[in-house]
Amino acid sequence: MLITSLLRSTVKQCQTEARLARPLLWAPMQHMRTYVTETTSTKSPTAVLLTNMGGPETTDDVYNFLHNLFSDRDLMQLPFQKYAAKFIAKRRTPQIMEQYQAIGGGSPILRWTRTQGAAMEKILDEICPETAPHKHYIAFRYVEPYTNTALEEMKKDGVERAIVFTQYPQYSCSTTGSSLNDLHRGISELGMDHVRWSIIDRWPTHPGFIDATAKKIEAKLAEYTEEERKDAVIMFSAHSLPMSVVNRGDPYPAEVAATVDHVMNKLDHRYPHRLCWQSQVGPKAWLGPQTSDALKGFAKAGKKNLVVVPIAFTSDHIETLYELDHEYGSEAKKLGITGWKRVDALNDDPVFTQAMADIVKEHIQKDEVVSKKWPLRCPDCTFETCGHSRNFFTKQKE
Ligand code: FES
Repeated sequence: MLITSLLRSTVKQCQTEARLARPLLWAPMQHMRTYVTETTSTKSPTAVLLTNMGGPETTDDVYNFLHNLFSDRDLMQLPFQKYAAKFIAKRRTPQIMEQYQAIGGGSPILRWTRTQGAAMEKILDEICPETAPHKHYIAFRYVEPYTNTALEEMKKDGVERAIVFTQYPQYSCSTTGSSLNDLHRGISELGMDHVRWSIIDRWPTHPGFIDATAKKIEAKLAEYTEEERKDAVIMFSAHSLPMSVVNRGDPYPAEVAATVDHVMNKLDHRYPHRLCWQSQVGPKAWLGPQTSDALKGFAKAGKKNLVVVPIAFTSDHIETLYELDHEYGSEAKKLGITGWKRVDALNDDPVFTQAMADIVKEHIQKDEVVSKKWPLRCPDCTFETCGHSRNFFTKQKE
């Protein structure tokens, strides 16, 4: 939804898509809190760098979060972006603060990522002793701990081997791509190119992830009576993308669809389902059907029991807690959908944290620097940074 807000602002302010020179954007290091965790082993750890967009921990962090988001030229490019980012962030802050206030005062994404990372590294030490000790680090794109904060911590720990592990199951240049470009800048700035880097850039159909998701859906379906379950429809919901990004060749829509297909296979296709896309606004074309339109359509068709599954994020965040629970939940109620249920995010689910450890272990065993898919840029990509980061990471093979 926040990305949507950014794009909505852009649509209003930027009728042309003039692309300016792309200055390097160094993540600001202000607001340093206690993001560093202690390591007790004397051997330098195998680092597992968990990358994600992050979210404001408190409402006081909302402005900086938005400012960094609006400044991200891998996400979108605005004329006079330096000034536009400040202006839009300032204008959007009060409304977004209210939304975070409604979900308890801030984003839980850092808390969940830490919990997931701690559980994953413990399992990894057991199932992959040859590369132990493992230590997770967190690199958020728009809030602390920023990429450079994580890199500083890794430097302090004397890390020589690092695995970048995106926390987006499906790859998009707007999310994982932006984080990897930012990481490449941070590595150059902090002189970390001696580290042996490799990347887990996507895992949309990993069996552990599919299993964890299917189990969460089953648990939610079990809350219905038998009669209600017969009528249940599973509605997968993922953040939408503008069609300009889709048409550029972004792999995200196909990978989200692949996740959905694997989850439904796991559920033996016992229920009808649809994949819908949330958060889109503004006059430009976005990938659909929109989740809110699908709600209306299902209500019109007399469907009362809708199970909505957030399929493109692995922990709670504003799109689940505010958009799905508050906004769409109330809309569903008004439309007479009495059995609206939102499937729990994976958060600290042990099946999921086991899957995280398995994904890393399989990556280590495969001894692959980057996936076969990542070096191939979107056919219509014109961003120089996408080329720079690919050149750097693929060179790790040599
Ligand atoms: Fe997709 Fe650059 S935008 S590779």
